[in-house]
Amino acid sequence: MKNIAVLVSGGGTNLQALIDAQNSGIIKNGKITCVISSKPDAYALERAKQNDIPTRIIPRKEYNSVSDYTKAVTDALIEIKADLVVYAGFMTILDEKIVKAFPNRMMNVHPSLIPSFCGKGYYGLHVHEEVLKKGVKLTGATIHFVTEECDGGPIILQKAVEVKNNDTPETLQKRVMEEAEWVILPQAVSLFCEDKIEVKDNKAYVFN
Ligand code: GAR
Repeated sequence: MKNIAVLVSGGGTNLQALIDAQNSGIIKNGKITCVISSKPDAYALERAKQNDIPTRIIPRKEYNSVSDYTKAVTDALIEIKADLVVYAGFMTILDEKIVKAFPNRMMNVHPSLIPSFCGKGYYGLHVHEEVLKKGVKLTGATIHFVTEECDGGPIILQKAVEVKNNDTPETLQKRVMEEAEWVILPQAVSLFCEDKIEVKDNKAYVFN
């Protein structure tokens, strides 16, 4: 059984999708053993507590540098013996030290079809604002391994979502979450826990 640690900063709807998937048996051979938040008031912490999942708060504000903060998070993950680290709306930048400690063992959910609308500055609602500005007709979500390149790691799963004429960033965000993020994040986590993902030449291959 693999130990899954989830990193959060906000509302935690993706964490909730993982908890629901765990409770209904969709996540095989893995268990969420810790939720770590960069913000003390993140609602995601409540969701964890309601489901008896241990939590830790490592406030970003209490650290002077990205390096010190990365060390604190990395040390915590090593201490709890995390096998898989899931960035689920974790809005804090960490440096390469954590990638070296958990190579191809950290996954991120991003609310677009990478390589579109990703990289520095593309997070949360901003992603959907840019999608609407450009007028693309399809967007979606991507689950990828975390590497040193922001949103540039091997892609595990993607799911497309239609953009509608009358969408606002908020309605589009909601549809991308409901139709894509909450569906493919638990799937990717389960695939990892079942050893069904292989990475070769910076590409992820899923065997299902
Ligand atoms: C989600 O839409 C997630 O994809 C996005 O932030 C939201 C967090 O919501 N993440 C990023 O933009 C990362 N670049 P949640 O806290 O309700 O899961």
